[in-house]
Amino acid sequence: MASYEYETHDYDVVVVGAGGAGLRATLGMAEQGLRTACVTKVFPTRSHTVAAQGGIAASLSNMGPDHWQWHMYDTVKGSDWLGDTDAMEYLAREAPKAVYELEHYGVPFSRTEEGKIYQRPFGGHTTEFGEGPPVQRTCAAADRTGHAILHTLYGQSLKNNAEFYIEYFAIDLIMSDDGVCTGVVCWKLDDGTMHVFNAKMVVLATGGYGRAYFSATSAHTCTGDGGGMVARAGLALQDMEFVQFHPTGIYGSGCLITEGARGEGGYLTNSEGERFMERYAPNYKDLAPRDYVSRSMTMEIREGRGVGEHGDHIHLNLSHLPAEALAERLPGISESAKIFAGVDVTKEPIPVLPTVHYNMGGIPTNYWGEVINPTKDDPNAIVPGLMAVGEAGCASVHGANRLGSNSLIDLVVFGRAAAIRAGKTVDPEAPTPPLNTAAIDKAFDRFDGLRHADGGTPTAELRLEMQRTMQSDAAVFRASDTLKEGLDKMTGIAAKLDDIKVTDRSLVWNSDLMETLELTNLMPNALATIAGAEARKESRGAHAHEDHPERDDENWRVHTIAHVDGNKAALTYREVITDPLTNEQQGGIAIEKIAPKARTF
Ligand code: FUM
Repeated sequence: MASYEYETHDYDVVVVGAGGAGLRATLGMAEQGLRTACVTKVFPTRSHTVAAQGGIAASLSNMGPDHWQWHMYDTVKGSDWLGDTDAMEYLAREAPKAVYELEHYGVPFSRTEEGKIYQRPFGGHTTEFGEGPPVQRTCAAADRTGHAILHTLYGQSLKNNAEFYIEYFAIDLIMSDDGVCTGVVCWKLDDGTMHVFNAKMVVLATGGYGRAYFSATSAHTCTGDGGGMVARAGLALQDMEFVQFHPTGIYGSGCLITEGARGEGGYLTNSEGERFMERYAPNYKDLAPRDYVSRSMTMEIREGRGVGEHGDHIHLNLSHLPAEALAERLPGISESAKIFAGVDVTKEPIPVLPTVHYNMGGIPTNYWGEVINPTKDDPNAIVPGLMAVGEAGCASVHGANRLGSNSLIDLVVFGRAAAIRAGKTVDPEAPTPPLNTAAIDKAFDRFDGLRHADGGTPTAELRLEMQRTMQSDAAVFRASDTLKEGLDKMTGIAAKLDDIKVTDRSLVWNSDLMETLELTNLMPNALATIAGAEARKESRGAHAHEDHPERDDENWRVHTIAHVDGNKAALTYREVITDPLTNEQQGGIAIEKIAPKARTF
């Protein structure tokens, strides 16, 4: 057995991850006087939320009529009827409050002439329950909204005495024998010391796992660390087959060009200069939801109307917009287009391609962020001591497809909800749980095994194999034969973790070991994704199955639950929650309004 000395830290709450959700949870916990630690593998303001561009959805009605019920309806339809209705209502109803709180915390939103928060149109956000024109619902700080939110929340968390453990890598959860989460084991990257955080509540806010794919808008740090830890603890992952491709990643680099570019009037064209979205989505055109636009672009390319030397991408046009508007509203992407595509957006179109952007699936939770581990007897069984928020979690508000700008609002609404819930369930006077030394030793054993791994497969080689397989076999369009082949390949690739080779045995700034730990987290996420996709015999949201092109509500309006053990993913299914929190008499939405129907735009 490996023996490592460690320092123990006792807290009421430990939040793992310092992106938008992690910081909003940290701030909310600390504001209530809970002793709160935030453990993060990167400096907080370098978390991936910093890259969020276009904005945060909330029905403020600053630019025209809007209602939270319309926002809720759009989210339900956007999810292709796979989201949990209670959580979607909570999101849309709480969104305005959560945004005004951000404003009062100091987020420097762009402003209208009257000084209100500026809002822009985004895909799939409409009026009149999907019957009216697009709505301007997405609150923006130019095209650097995530950056503005992250800096504000970090400052506020410090002001409220939250304690930060920066560049600490979470190795594994500490679970008690009776299934309670009591903390997390961490490795401090800059000095090689080991740390055990002992807490009454652990909140996983570790972000998505975009880096399971070859080309993603996600940072290289998006390695599904929370999902990996949860899978190793024998807990569930949910709806992992639903992977969002953002229509406008820059061709080649994958760098994000915000949907706000189309919100401000940009449009897509094919090699014939045609605005092809008018054919696919006659009403909302370039402002249809992302799954729709990504599929339409892919079909144009497949049918020989792609642009460029190889006819393998699409053009995003902005040059018709006034140069002052581009400078004021889209300065960040104007710079990215110059750096990553060599394009001056005032003169030329940007070459773009659908690129992996977001994971709708994740660690299943209720709308308070409490992790659930569904069993036959209790599909909503709560895992005591454990919460998950943000992209790491699956509440599930995005179902099979997320609307643009519903991610930032998810981060703050559910980060805030987790804090509200913990304020009720965590007793600051109670002692911290006893240390489970067996679980701690198990985490160190795994760590030590990887540190001294001396197999034949270097981490970078295995990671690339996984990324290429996911990219080609779990793509925008999927088919039975390639999914089957992909699942077989991924089963073999995951088994090769037993043959991994790590060359650096040191403990200080050992990026070889850190990337290996990250790969062990990516792998169960990737496996659950392709296994869930292979099993789902329908098309819904981001899961476009060529052999099963229709949505099948009778058999498949269910959440996929994956338990990953080694290189095997066992799947079961869980009912979708179809009842809203409030009905029409209580000011909520009529159940018939949100009943499934054909999803057209
Ligand atoms: O296009 C964007 O600005 C991305 C926003 C989002 O993913 O919500």
